Amino acid sequence: MAFRTNSSIRLKQALQAGLGLERAFYHEVTGNIIVPGQVRGIDHLRDARLNKGLAFSVEERQKLGIHGLLPARVKTMDEQMELCRMSLSRYKDDLNKYLYLTALQDRHEKLFFRLLTENVETIMPIVYTPTVGLACQKFGLIYRRPRGLFVTINDRGHVCDVLRNWPEPDVRAIVVTDGERILGLGDLGACGMGIPVGKLALYTGLAKIRPNQCLPVMLDVGTNNEQFLNDPLYIGLRQKRVQGKEYDELVSEFMEAVVKRYGQRTLIQFEDFANHNAFRLLNMFRNRYCTFNDDIQGTAAVVVAGLFAAERMTGKRISDQTFLFLGAGGAAVGIASLVIKSMEREGIDSRLAYDKIWMFDQEGLLVKSRIDPDTDSHRVCFAKEHNPAEDFTELVKEVEPSVLIGASAVAGAFTPEILRIMAENNERPVIMALSNPTALAECTAQQAYEHTEGRCLFASGSPFPEVQHNGRIYKTGQANNAYIFPGVALGVIVSGSYHIPDEMFLEAAKALASQILDEDLSQGSLYPPLSNIKDCSLQIALQVSEYAYKNGIASTYPIPTDLLAFLNSHQYDFYYRSALPITWKWPKIDQESTCQQRDIIFRYIPESQ
Ligand code: NAI
Repeated sequence: MAFRTNSSIRLKQALQAGLGLERAFYHEVTGNIIVPGQVRGIDHLRDARLNKGLAFSVEERQKLGIHGLLPARVKTMDEQMELCRMSLSRYKDDLNKYLYLTALQDRHEKLFFRLLTENVETIMPIVYTPTVGLACQKFGLIYRRPRGLFVTINDRGHVCDVLRNWPEPDVRAIVVTDGERILGLGDLGACGMGIPVGKLALYTGLAKIRPNQCLPVMLDVGTNNEQFLNDPLYIGLRQKRVQGKEYDELVSEFMEAVVKRYGQRTLIQFEDFANHNAFRLLNMFRNRYCTFNDDIQGTAAVVVAGLFAAERMTGKRISDQTFLFLGAGGAAVGIASLVIKSMEREGIDSRLAYDKIWMFDQEGLLVKSRIDPDTDSHRVCFAKEHNPAEDFTELVKEVEPSVLIGASAVAGAFTPEILRIMAENNERPVIMALSNPTALAECTAQQAYEHTEGRCLFASGSPFPEVQHNGRIYKTGQANNAYIFPGVALGVIVSGSYHIPDEMFLEAAKALASQILDEDLSQGSLYPPLSNIKDCSLQIALQVSEYAYKNGIASTYPIPTDLLAFLNSHQYDFYYRSALPITWKWPKIDQESTCQQRDIIFRYIPESQ
């Protein structure tokens, strides 16, 4: 164990500046020097990052000046966890569970994250989809404390100043939304802030990215949601959405401000932007910043991982499949683009690859005659030379797809008839009903198995319970982006990548597919159990950072000899460390100076923190 060199230097500088620090502490998380008067005893209980609740030992309570502020009982973290689980189980309503967890995060950070990381299957659906959707809809009512930055269209010209108000100096990852297309719920304006908050909770819970390095951001440009516009309790700007030049200026200024405040390598994840902005912004920024769009690229990677896994059951390579998408928005086009890349890697000509992909949206089959290449440049390559077609069922009969992917947010669109046709045409049809939240899925897991005689390989966007069909139990897989983005983020942050090319998502898909066991597949799931998601994240981070080093886009040098150990050394520690100040003899600084050798009492920080 050694002292953090940079912190030691800063402390030394502070001493040399004659600050006369008799007792100094490092903030456990940020590493900032804290002097008495800044952190009072009670702050150890009020600061969620320092708080251990009843787990403060008697000695800690005395030395930190919190003795008497807590009841006599000293608990272990495991006992605290047990109490949390009990409390959580008493709430019957998921939104109440969400509120309980938010309050826990606000007051006791380590406990919250350990609870999340050790109970992923039960807690992830609360802090993330599907419950987070409900939380966003009610965000105006449940908003309590700042967790993230609200940058409004009125802040143009001052975005950097707003960013400076964020208290953390070492932000490495930002998740940003403008709230225009939250899950499948549409425009939720500023209430969409629940999404970046939830995503970043998973950065820590699943990939152990340190919470102080994560910043949720809402770009509030107004909302076109009439209900919110007329709601006096709405918490955002009550005006119609600003679009066009002013909107672009705000987003561009935000990107520049992030680089100015936190550096060029700060990862910026775009989340739940509407289709008309999502691709445009991705294309504008992907080569200038360290950025990706999760709805487009993250979704693509998780679906392609499922397709790699399906290959083991169907015996068909991705390039042997025929794809029909319901929905031709961000998710569908993102998936289709990565599917094309994997087909090309399998060696087929890109023209042939495009022939194997069909898309159907609100206006029917995507055909060349109705596509404007200027405004629809990201979709034009998927448009067919074909007569317009408006009947989806007829199209399923005509195209005979082997893979059916729903990303339309149209509940029940995969009718029993469509599912039966899929089963008639394929021994093992692949059915992916990706729309979120659960109520908007194109079909349920039960329907998928029932109407395909249990032969389909099924995945959904939101979780479905196990299905019993013909005496068999099917564990359905969740094509959840959460398998992908935390691991990609960890790999990118630790390797210091400047950019995130599409190939990184293909690497992530391969890494995830490698974690899917035959046992998962035989139970009907195209994905590993959610309880394995942390191992998947680490594996993905490893592959992504290897890719970054091999392809010259990493900037953390020297290249670590043991990449896995290097990744581990940057991860968050979910366990308490001693909060006791320790006495340390400061080496002679300058015999002649007025700054005599002092006994410095400060917190012991291991090198890895
Ligand atoms: P989007 O708004 O960009 O696209 C929606 C598409 O659905 C549009 O092309 C629209 O024309 C089409 N559509 C709407 N009504 C239709 C109808 N009646 N018939 C046929 N097509 C129709 O939204 P995005 O980002 O593509 O997301 C779509 C859905 O996929 C959402 O529910 C979202 O939550 C879900 N999703 C799931 C993911 C996952 O499971 N991992 C990841 C990303 C999105």
